[in-house]
Amino acid sequence: MSTSEPRLEVPWVEKYRPSKIAEVVNNEDAKKKYVAWINAWLRGKPQKKAALLYGPPGSGKTSIVHATAREFNWELIELNASDVRSREALRQRVSGALDTGSVFGYQGKIILLDEVDGISTREDAGGLQAILELIEKTRWPIVLTANDPWDPKLRTLRDACELIEFKKIGKRDVVKVLESICQKEKIECPKEVLSAIADNSKGDLRAAINDLQSIALGKKTLSVADLQVLGDRAEQENMFEIVRTVLTAKSPEQALSVTRLPSLDYEMLLQWLSENIPYQYEQSLQAIADAYNALSWADIMLSRMKREQQWSLLSYALELMTAGVSSSRERPPFKFVKYSFPEKIRILARQKEKFEEYRKVVREASSRLHVSTSKFRTEVQPYLQVILEEDEEEGKMILRSLGIPENKINVVFKTEEKAHS
Ligand SMILES: Nc1ncnc2c1ncn2[C@@H]1O[C@H](COP(=O)(O)OP(=O)(O)OP(=O)(O)O)[C@@H](O)[C@H]1O
Ligand SMILES: [Mg+2]
Repeated sequence: MSTSEPRLEVPWVEKYRPSKIAEVVNNEDAKKKYVAWINAWLRGKPQKKAALLYGPPGSGKTSIVHATAREFNWELIELNASDVRSREALRQRVSGALDTGSVFGYQGKIILLDEVDGISTREDAGGLQAILELIEKTRWPIVLTANDPWDPKLRTLRDACELIEFKKIGKRDVVKVLESICQKEKIECPKEVLSAIADNSKGDLRAAINDLQSIALGKKTLSVADLQVLGDRAEQENMFEIVRTVLTAKSPEQALSVTRLPSLDYEMLLQWLSENIPYQYEQSLQAIADAYNALSWADIMLSRMKREQQWSLLSYALELMTAGVSSSRERPPFKFVKYSFPEKIRILARQKEKFEEYRKVVREASSRLHVSTSKFRTEVQPYLQVILEEDEEEGKMILRSLGIPENKINVVFKTEEKAHS
């Protein structure tokens, strides 16, 4: 990757977040229910003081709350898992924000408790109790979001909330959003490319927009050929998303959440992080240093774990490599970054490929000579090398008879060009 290529850009998912409720696309039923609930608040008589928006990622749950705050000029108070770990933590976080009038001229407040399903898995019953009390006492609308709200532990919480289901975004709307982004970014992009991105996103608008930005980085015209990147991405889809989740996590818990993925390849994650930390944290040397420091400890833990068969060390390694890596206090604001495939793995893969090719050629030649491959390597190959250097034509002829075509000669032998380079 050349250094002149722009790597850092405002993430389009942020840049094009809806600023009005009406701009939240799709999910008409959910929107209608949500608007009715907000209207009940405006009249001062909500049946339920909290709403729980649930559904798949990238469907607009967080967006609709942000849009509400902007549309009504309400102050948005965002709480995360660590704010609600205990009653005391919650009180500290919200009492000031809720009781005082606002100095910024807001006309109201709305409280967003994002991703509550992340809380339930922890053993903080105190936190759940605190949320319930907050709902009981609040003078402002509270919105909770979750991907999967059906954990039995969340039952009391569900009962206290208006339940509003969000669904995957239909393909037509995904394409429409992508089209309008292309227009605003002055990017020319054939419809079939957008359609392919939409298919690939499976109704997750965040993924679709991120994909579009990935393939459009540094370009103004896109073509079907650019989908190649997307193809690679489909295979590596998880790694891209996992790396982004870790490096841009808003809380240690969020970074840690990737370790619960059943298919997480942590050795691979280590390589991916090691490759991409400097890009994501480009604006802060301190953040880069902190992240690498945590990552190096994770690396030490992993090798100790393998050497001493101390499997219990795995959880420390995983915490260091996720929560640790993302926890620098100097972390720069979230920028959209195009991640790279780890160079180390690429080199290893290339070497492996070359070695495979070498083995294939040698196996063929040695079987024709009825010798073992090691005998070929030690007793035949050096002579062939000499012949090749003394009389290239003669050498090539012999090699052909051994099943080594001209274009494979340099796989096994030093050739002219190589000798020079
Ligand atoms: N219905 C939508 N209308 C317009 N934009 C959307 C919609 N849904 C998602 N987006 C875009 O995708 C991004 C991510 O959406 P959002 O944060 O609202 O997802 P979410 O439903 O909260 O997902 P998660 O469960 O992962 O938190 C937004 O910033 C916005 O750009
Ligand atoms: Mg969200």
